[in-house]
Parts: sequence; C-alpha cells; structure tokens
Amino acid sequence: MDPWHSLSKWFNNVGDDSNTTPYATAHGMPFFKYAGNEPRLNHLFNEAMASDARLVMTVLIQNGKGLIFEGLKSLVDVGGGTGTIAKAIADAFPQINCTVFDLPHVIEEHEGSKNLSFVGGDMFIKR
Ligand SMILES: C[S@@+](CC[C@H](N)C(=O)[O-])C[C@H]1O[C@@H](n2cnc3c(N)ncnc32)[C@H](O)[C@@H]1O
Repeated sequence: MDPWHSLSKWFNNVGDDSNTTPYATAHGMPFFKYAGNEPRLNHLFNEAMASDARLVMTVLIQNGKGLIFEGLKSLVDVGGGTGTIAKAIADAFPQINCTVFDLPHVIEEHEGSKNLSFVGGDMFIKR
C-alpha cells in the first residue's frame, strides 16, 4: 500500500531522478532493485510471474505450433523471469535455442539445458 499512499508526493515531484515511480518514492528505489535485496519478495514476484506464464504458454504452444515458431532457430526472452516461457518453448521445439535474459538475482538459481540458457544482466546497461 505504501506506493499508493505516495502517489501525491510522486506526482508533485515528477522529474526528480529518485522519484521515477510511486514505488521508488515510497521505498527509495525502483521495485526490481528492492526485490533484489529482499529474497522473499523476489521469490513471491517471480512465482507470480511464472504462474501467469504457465497459463499463457499452454494455450500458445497448443495453438501456435506451426504459426509462430516455424523456421525459428533461436530466441531471447528479455525480462524472461525464471524461464517458464522459454523452457516451454525449448521443450516443445528442440530445434530452437532459447535464452532467458533477466536480472542476476532472478536467474541465479536456474540452470539451463541442451537448448535453454540463462544470462544475467541489466537490459538498460551496455556491457
Ligand atoms: C512483468 S515481469 C515478466 C516476467 C516473465 N516475462 C514472465 O512472464 O514470467 C518483468 C521481468 O523483467 C525483469 N526486469 C526488470 N528490469 C530489468 C532489467 N533492467 N534488466 C533485465 N530484466 C529486467 C524482471 O526481473 C521481471 O522478471
């Protein structure tokens, strides 16, 4: 509820770098950085994302076999969380090399397989 209670403060200070979202206003940092320092929140959020992704992927793979993935040799799921979507694609289409790119604290405990790999980084920062 804290970001919600910070809406007014956030709205009146738009443009200030430390005030990019109501969440940052309330907690002093953006959500994904905060989650990186709070293992319980990190786990809860990632599980919620994965749960949502499982539902979507069942439908997508059943209905999109020939249409969406035909001819594809590789793909990168940027912001792919713990890899639920990429793993479902990698399992259903062994000829596609799938990469999950997400923040290091999100992917750190996840291992790839023959055609699935995990890369940690920040999509907004050039290496
Ligand atoms: C809305 S979630 C989507 C998760 C995933 N696509 C799924 O369906 O399960 C957004 C994802 O973007 C990741 N993310 C946020 N900021 C990022 C950044 N700067 N670089 C890389 N990944 C980032 C988060 O960690 C999170 O996993």
